[in-house]
Amino acid sequence: MGKNLVQKILGAHLLEGELVPGKEIAIRIDQTLTQDATGTMAYLQFEAMGVPKVKTELSVSYVDHNTLQSGFENADDHRFLQTVAAKHGIHFSRPGNGICHQVHLERFGVPGKTMLGSDSHTPTGGGIGMIAIGAGGLDVAVAMGGGPFYLTCPKVVGVNLLGQLSPWVSAKDVILEVLRQLTVKGGVGKIVEYCGPGVATLSVPERATITNMGAELGATTSIFPSDEVTLAFLKAQGREQVWSKLKPDEDATYEEMITVDLSSLEPMVACPHSPDAVKTVREVGSIKVDQVLIGSCTNSSYADLMKVAGILKGKTVHPTVSLGIAPGSRQVFEMLARNGALADLIAAGARILESACGPCIGMGQSPNSGAVSIRTFNRNFEGRSGTADAKVYLSSPEIAAAAALTGLLTDPRELGEAIDVVMPEEFLIDDRMVLAPAEDPSTVEVLRGPNIKALPINQPLPESLKAEVILKVGDNITTDHIMPAGAKILPLRSNIPAISQHVFAGVDSTFADRAKAAGCGIIVGGQNYGQGSSREHAALAPMYLGIKAVITQSFARIHRANLVNFGILPLTFASEADAAKVSQGDILEIADLSAKLGNSETLEVRNVTTGEAFWVRPDLTARQVAIIKAGGLLNYTRLQG
Ligand code: F3S
Repeated sequence: MGKNLVQKILGAHLLEGELVPGKEIAIRIDQTLTQDATGTMAYLQFEAMGVPKVKTELSVSYVDHNTLQSGFENADDHRFLQTVAAKHGIHFSRPGNGICHQVHLERFGVPGKTMLGSDSHTPTGGGIGMIAIGAGGLDVAVAMGGGPFYLTCPKVVGVNLLGQLSPWVSAKDVILEVLRQLTVKGGVGKIVEYCGPGVATLSVPERATITNMGAELGATTSIFPSDEVTLAFLKAQGREQVWSKLKPDEDATYEEMITVDLSSLEPMVACPHSPDAVKTVREVGSIKVDQVLIGSCTNSSYADLMKVAGILKGKTVHPTVSLGIAPGSRQVFEMLARNGALADLIAAGARILESACGPCIGMGQSPNSGAVSIRTFNRNFEGRSGTADAKVYLSSPEIAAAAALTGLLTDPRELGEAIDVVMPEEFLIDDRMVLAPAEDPSTVEVLRGPNIKALPINQPLPESLKAEVILKVGDNITTDHIMPAGAKILPLRSNIPAISQHVFAGVDSTFADRAKAAGCGIIVGGQNYGQGSSREHAALAPMYLGIKAVITQSFARIHRANLVNFGILPLTFASEADAAKVSQGDILEIADLSAKLGNSETLEVRNVTTGEAFWVRPDLTARQVAIIKAGGLLNYTRLQG
């Protein structure tokens, strides 16, 4: 039987298990990437493993998140990251060099390779034909140490692309259409593989926009074939030697299949506050816009920003709109500067931001209260902009630029003839801001400022668990709810005692103090608990506060894996209705937990407060059970020797 592309690449990297959806498999990881907000912890964990040099083919440490140095903390982190990279065989992309996913696509991605990244938008690499998966920093640290990456073998969803995009319709509209069809839960446990005749009509950066936002589907990753278009992109990046042709067999099969006719798409937006609340611009109508932000790892390629420059050239930003633009990489930034497009953006009144994540991660540019903000980013969760009541719409760069000029949500087709950007035959290649690791690591001293605190180490799982429900929350709790980001909190990422004070701060400001005082606690949640980012602090900080178990109706994949990695037991209600049997403040007890875990499909939970009982499912593999019992992956890895 013919193989799809995912089966081919996973098969070539398979270390344990069989490619049967739902079964646990282990794969070899060729490349890793980290960004600074998760990287400090990943490298502290890597150091704790005692491996002198990374064992991957390539590992790159990027600084793109916490670049707003309003105190010493971020700069201390950057210095730690630079020195730890030099010492352990890791390339270091300096602050200012760009957003990890964009730079990696341009300078390091290789078709057919596997990559693990401590950032949920690592699937951007699927645009160049990689199996690129987002994971917690600890998983990435283990991969750097040469360990396999364990995952549940996903189903493969084929997306058959037909036709080609009409003028003013872009790659963002393609992924918004897929989100509209599949929703933010539609990709859970799946890899999305794009196929069909429409693939050849999309450039690599366009494909990367689509695979980037596959993260919003909850998908493990997304991937495009590697074809002549990929070769042309790699050639223009001076890297054609890493190209190989990769495509599914003619008779390949997929567990699910959807079709998207590119020709039938029109400009769309994701409405507040979810990336799958997708409507056409025509449906939403001409709402007033206060802010436009263009950039992020989703939409800040050379072609994206050249289109924006073309739309804004000779015009002026609307007087009531603030327009911010952050180029995705130094390569893009410098090319725009050299060809004059940057001058057009500045002349039009754009506020040019550093080549970094910036406002996408809440680093500045919070809009006015009640604002409508149009962003080319990938997330529009409530409050992520830094303004609690702002309404964020996600759009293509074309829609964003049109709104910046008119002050209204505008269908870009009203602007007249579309801007056609031809991909350059040669990108500007200058890797001086990527530092190679030291030739002699013994000469490198790893520099730690006072913001780099020792890793908290968890205790093994207790024999029985009796603990208070410190918090009960509803559906769709994001990692932003659990561990907020933003300019005040992000600098504390390498300081767990300090950052843990902010856990659930926006949901219940007393959570951290109550959890710490209890010393041992449980969280109860609804559906899709932990959706959003890969941030392992959403597991690590609750662990530090004494959380031992989280019981929900369902979990988001990466967060569930992070809970296991930090020794927090992820449990789901055997009967979803039983969530009603628990209230905040109740005392729950699971007797003989350690003995039963791994031996029974369900565990009985006794609600000591009400006298009722209900059943929960651990759904853990034997390896995950061993990790939980050891108190987390770091303890487990050490025990393995
Ligand atoms: Fe950065 Fe936002 Fe992407 S934080 S990595 S630009 S999702």
